[in-house]
Amino acid sequence: MESAITAGKAVPLPLPFMHFAPMSPLKPDPLSGQSLVVLGAGYVGEAVCREGLRRGMRVHALTRNADRAARLQAMGVKSVVAQLDQSDWHDALPPDADCSLNCVSSGGGGTDAYRTSYVQGTRSILEWGKRTVTPGLLIYTSSTSVYAQGDGARIDEEATAEGSGETGPILLEAEALTRSWAGSTAVVRLAGIYGPGRHQMLDQLRNGARVLPGRGDHRLNLIHRDDIVGAVFRIWECQRGKSGSWLYNLADNDPRPKAEVATWLARRLGVETPTFSETPAPGRRRLVPDRIILNSRIRTELGWSPVYPTFREGYEALLGA
Ligand SMILES: NC(=O)c1ccc[n+]([C@@H]2O[C@H](COP(=O)([O-])OP(=O)(O)OC[C@H]3O[C@@H](n4cnc5c(N)ncnc54)[C@H](OP(=O)(O)O)[C@@H]3O)[C@@H](O)[C@H]2O)c1
Repeated sequence: MESAITAGKAVPLPLPFMHFAPMSPLKPDPLSGQSLVVLGAGYVGEAVCREGLRRGMRVHALTRNADRAARLQAMGVKSVVAQLDQSDWHDALPPDADCSLNCVSSGGGGTDAYRTSYVQGTRSILEWGKRTVTPGLLIYTSSTSVYAQGDGARIDEEATAEGSGETGPILLEAEALTRSWAGSTAVVRLAGIYGPGRHQMLDQLRNGARVLPGRGDHRLNLIHRDDIVGAVFRIWECQRGKSGSWLYNLADNDPRPKAEVATWLARRLGVETPTFSETPAPGRRRLVPDRIILNSRIRTELGWSPVYPTFREGYEALLGA
């Protein structure tokens, strides 16, 4: 029976370890047989693990959640249950993996949790990396919240990132730390994530909300979970084996005002079109600024393009599912 490692201790799991076959025997996947480590596997990280397995990679993951570890293990992922910011996992995962992803989140906590997950977590990754002379390409999923601009600004990767609010500077510190990884690195600044099982506005409207938080005229910068997965694999395919440090924004092709998204969804659901409170969402101190996050760098440099280019395709797929 397979087991997950809990801070050094083996925990037996009920489901058998599953081996997997390469995607196509006719055209081998360039990542097939490579090793992948996903650190802080949650919503995005689990989807990356699944895609890594599908592509024939040897996949390892760190999560602090024992249930998720069991699920990953059952899929065929070698899983470790640990806090990223601690060091008890350093012996359990291969620091010379060809491809690594740090996609830890703050876990919903305040600034202390941000510091623990992003800054202490990245410091822990750097310590882990010192155990090898052959570090691979590390990707870190940062956030477009590192940009403070509003007023309809168009934001590419050359835009100033001053780190808005209390948490923006923490994310910027984690980005800077990531760049000191001994191998190559890519920082990917993500817009608001949505996808299967994560569709807040859809849920609000389905549950009868008639007034939504925020401003209807502010653009909603979104990225579908599966397009994040596609982008990180594209980065590994194109940049693995090269030395460098890359930075990419990741959003869909056409951020639309929140009111347009809400009106479209309300029509599709057959409910009343909502209005907006013009106040921040619960738990947030300020409104999300109005800006357009541009994804042109990753599209032109790496040939990535989103499967869900606008909210319409993304929500259509979710409504159809
Ligand atoms: N959500 C968004 O719209 C958004 C926007 C921009 C950027 N991002 C970034 O995108 C990445 C992926 O986001 P996501 O939606 O997949 O996040 P997620 O679902 O919250 O997954 C992240 C995982 O990290 C775990 N975690 C938190 N602190 C940890 C620690 N100290 N040690 C080990 N694990 C820890 C969480 O565990 P628990 O489940 O136990 O809490 C969670 O499972 C994150 O880096 C996030 O910062 C997200």
